[in-house]
Amino acid sequence: MQRVKINQLLGSKTAMDSVVVKGWVRTKRNAKDFSFMEVNDGSCLKNIQIIAGADLANYPEVERITTGSAISVTGPLVASPGKGQSWEVQAREVEIISLSPEDYPLQKKRHTDEFLRTIAHLRPRTNKFGAIFRIRSEVIQAIHMFYRDRGFYCLSAPVITGSDCEGAGDMFRVTSLDPAEVARQGRMNFNEDFFGTQANLTVSGQLSAEMFALSLGDVYTFGPTFRAENSNTSRHVAEFWMLEPEMAFCDLDGNMDHGEELVKALTRHVMEHCAEDLSLFTKFVDKSLGGMLDTLVEQPYERVTYDEGVEILQKSGRKFEFPVDNGMDLQSEHERFLAEEYFKKPLFLTNYPKDIKPFYMRQNDDGRTVAAVDLLVPRIGELIGGSQREERLDHLERRMDEMGLSKADYWWYLDSRRFGTVSHSGFGMGFERFLMLITGITNIRDVVPFPRTPGAINF
Ligand code: 4AD
Ligand code: MG
Repeated sequence: MQRVKINQLLGSKTAMDSVVVKGWVRTKRNAKDFSFMEVNDGSCLKNIQIIAGADLANYPEVERITTGSAISVTGPLVASPGKGQSWEVQAREVEIISLSPEDYPLQKKRHTDEFLRTIAHLRPRTNKFGAIFRIRSEVIQAIHMFYRDRGFYCLSAPVITGSDCEGAGDMFRVTSLDPAEVARQGRMNFNEDFFGTQANLTVSGQLSAEMFALSLGDVYTFGPTFRAENSNTSRHVAEFWMLEPEMAFCDLDGNMDHGEELVKALTRHVMEHCAEDLSLFTKFVDKSLGGMLDTLVEQPYERVTYDEGVEILQKSGRKFEFPVDNGMDLQSEHERFLAEEYFKKPLFLTNYPKDIKPFYMRQNDDGRTVAAVDLLVPRIGELIGGSQREERLDHLERRMDEMGLSKADYWWYLDSRRFGTVSHSGFGMGFERFLMLITGITNIRDVVPFPRTPGAINF
């Protein structure tokens, strides 16, 4: 007989004569003539209750089943008299697939997130992390559907690259050198480490996406990106996924319209398709999350310039750790103040000083700012960073000269401005930060299956 997943069983409209359930035992309780087990198979948040009676041939073994053990149960699906559950399985047969020893770390009690991080390989077996990673999977699918519906093409941007998109220099190097050879030479030549040239792990797929937007119209890349910034915060990881749409014939306003539509659509999708998993977060992780999600999908997002934002911060009377100065890059405390306390909803902050932004952003007529845009959201700060791109060859070349970038290295990028250049825009959304936003999870390490942070590369 074929195995039926627990989400299907619990959603059943009728009782069934015989079903097969396979999963892991979450809890077990032995009564006089019965054993009750709560079994989970990962298909949903809920467990199914199994009743195993003393008449089972292997009842002595069944009585000894431990938390964490894997079992297969065959029997009828019947209405459950127990509170809070619709169906249970009355075991006719219990096969013990494997017994888990007593030192299984996930015994029935509440574990801290810190502890669970030390067993990242087992934490998806808990309610909370099972829910997180099911939601994560659902949002990945929703992203591809969102773009497919709108006629965007998905571009697989390279992970190994020769360029530094953001110009921040926080790149991991890729090397093909043999460590023994490096040791013999007594030095590592970083400029030749990738078969004779320099190579890095990508910090952003943007530059590739621009080339494709100027060919296929609307594209997006969605994949892993890497930052070697050694910052130990609750919002940074060294390896994260970034969603990067890039649109031809699109200006800064169109870019913001798109970002707002995206965040709203994905949030709505999760509210509709992950209601049960989401309820764990709205009930137990953050009681104000439900209201936050409503704000995210219902309210129009604010749009203010960097100058206006700085003025609001300076006039706020708030003592920030980093005093606010026009010209500085905003810190997350400033971003959160604007989103969380001042506007109480997401806001787009536009037109940042050019000196704190990369070379590719379109220069504004004031000569001081560029057509940059960040989307700042409550609890997180920066969720999206993007811009209208500098499509004018002369402006772009001048800026590259000012910033000391080699035009020869970027010949291919400059080609796109020589041959049929058009206005275009795009942004990057930190996928993990979006997951934090919609689940209320406050540490980015808890929305990544196996987080990569400074000093931690287990698993
Ligand atoms: O603002 P960033 O650096 O923008 C870019 O890389 C652009 N090239 C994107 C583009 O225009 N196509 O990064 C974009 C977003 C940030 O807003 C943030 O959400 C996320 O990526 N992000 C990180 N998330 C987790 N850990 C890190 N270390 C992150 N660095 C950036
Ligand atoms: Mg940014």
